[in-house]
Amino acid sequence: MTHKERPEGQILVIFGASGDLTKRKLIPSLFHLYRSNKLPKHFAVLGIGRSSYTNDEYRAYLTNELSTFGDIKDADQKAISSFINMFNYLVMDPSDMNEYPKLKVVLEELSTTNNINENYLYYLATPPALYKKIPLGLKEVGLNKDNGVKGKKRIIIEKPFGYNLKTAVSLNHTLMSAFKEDQIFRIDHYLGKETVLNVMALRFANGIFEPLWNRNYIDHIEITAVENIGIESRAGFYDEVGALRDMVQNHLIQLVAIAALEPPIKFDADNFRNEVVKVYNALRPLDKEDVLKNVVRGQYVASGMHESYREMKGVKKDSRTETYVAMKLFIDNWRWEGVPFYIRTGKQLPTKVSEIVVHFKQTPHMMFKGDKNERVYNKLIIRIQPNEGVLMRIAMKTPGSGYEVKDVSLDFTYDKLGGVPTGDAYARLIEDCMKGESTLFTRSDAVEASWKYFDTIIKEWEDNPMIPLYGYPAGTWGPLEADKLMNKGFTWTNPCKNLTNTDLYCEL
Ligand SMILES: NC(=O)c1ccc[n+]([C@@H]2O[C@H](COP(=O)([O-])OP(=O)(O)OC[C@H]3O[C@@H](n4cnc5c(N)ncnc54)[C@H](OP(=O)(O)O)[C@@H]3O)[C@@H](O)[C@H]2O)c1
Repeated sequence: MTHKERPEGQILVIFGASGDLTKRKLIPSLFHLYRSNKLPKHFAVLGIGRSSYTNDEYRAYLTNELSTFGDIKDADQKAISSFINMFNYLVMDPSDMNEYPKLKVVLEELSTTNNINENYLYYLATPPALYKKIPLGLKEVGLNKDNGVKGKKRIIIEKPFGYNLKTAVSLNHTLMSAFKEDQIFRIDHYLGKETVLNVMALRFANGIFEPLWNRNYIDHIEITAVENIGIESRAGFYDEVGALRDMVQNHLIQLVAIAALEPPIKFDADNFRNEVVKVYNALRPLDKEDVLKNVVRGQYVASGMHESYREMKGVKKDSRTETYVAMKLFIDNWRWEGVPFYIRTGKQLPTKVSEIVVHFKQTPHMMFKGDKNERVYNKLIIRIQPNEGVLMRIAMKTPGSGYEVKDVSLDFTYDKLGGVPTGDAYARLIEDCMKGESTLFTRSDAVEASWKYFDTIIKEWEDNPMIPLYGYPAGTWGPLEADKLMNKGFTWTNPCKNLTNTDLYCEL
């Protein structure tokens, strides 16, 4: 199937249809697909929840939420109505195994009315406590069975996928007792972002970067994904999870993989995901000392207008949950031996930004003498958000007499391609899943390899109360201890505080 073809007819079954993810992400993304003619010609949605709605009430609820969270400008009322009319609702408690026969009947009826071949795509947009129960409930009534032409069955699992290695392995085990690996789509919206995918294009569609992309020419790589907001209304969830599980174990480590992986033979599910797993398996295992020395955790404290993390509603007053993590890691393979990767994430930092910064090595000899000319490093900044783009810092001579060299920027922003990447990452990933295209979904071995690496940190933090949790004032770049992770002579690349303009870079 080419990417232009529409997916075959199917029913999307959303568990957790009355929830936050559904209204914020799924409905707007489906609307985007609908308007771009990317939904199947024969298509229906069945929302499932314990909340009591009739079909009409649910459609009214969705219409309202779409106007809040969706991009409905320029959409006429007729288009909105015909989109919303594809939705149906079933009152059901997905944790009750006795309810699944009812679901089967409703799905068969919907298949008949919509002329769909019992192709079902299940989206688990519920709290993770249900991620085992739902697949088992579906299996109980045979709704897991992929009958090829007569009915494909696929299942999307939201993050978090497990809480540590043990729970991730157990979840994989249960899931795979009901569905085969090629039916399972572990979603991580980071991988659906155009700019993340463009890292692959930058590396592998250009002849100039790949020869330099190794320990001979690269000094170190920084990966940053930070936010200038706190935990908003997610306190209950976040306080149990923390930054390491919420961001590092999945999003940041995927960015590490994309920056570090070997060129896949083809950009397809097996080849791409094999290379990702190889990176995870090559992460240098951490011991107790590494956790102490190379991982910094922090929690924001009150500053200016911002209250402290512990004062947030829903957060325990003595919470030791980290809202910031920075770490230095190594990939033990031929390409990356000795090259540090510095990664960090945090809440309540000065700005919202995700980027990869590649620091190339210094020239072997600096012939332009003078105080300002001692250290010239080329940096490649790949900005994932906002102001998506790529920027190269290079040295140029300043005009005038003498020979003073200065860092300047060569930049490209995505708006030059006719606009910021369109559509949300969720739209891209849902469309891929409807087509059975699993390249951008996490495979079971990758999830487990990643948890295996991070489990040491989790365990050390749990077992060793002497490991510090550093406070940092809200609105700053995190604990000062994170600076000490850097090799001598380097600091973190902190972008401008105000990234609302189109600048990719500015001197602080
Ligand atoms: N929200 C986001 O932006 C976001 C982003 C990334 C990942 N996720 C993940 O996506 C999943 C859904 O997130 P969410 O924020 O939408 O969650 P949510 O709003 O808390 O829950 C979704 C729905 O699940 C149902 N539910 C809740 N507890 C239940 C229980 N004990 N038994 C049966 N049903 C229950 C509720 O519907 P009824 O009461 O009607 O049954 C609720 O509306 C979570 O795993 C989350 O980690 C969310």
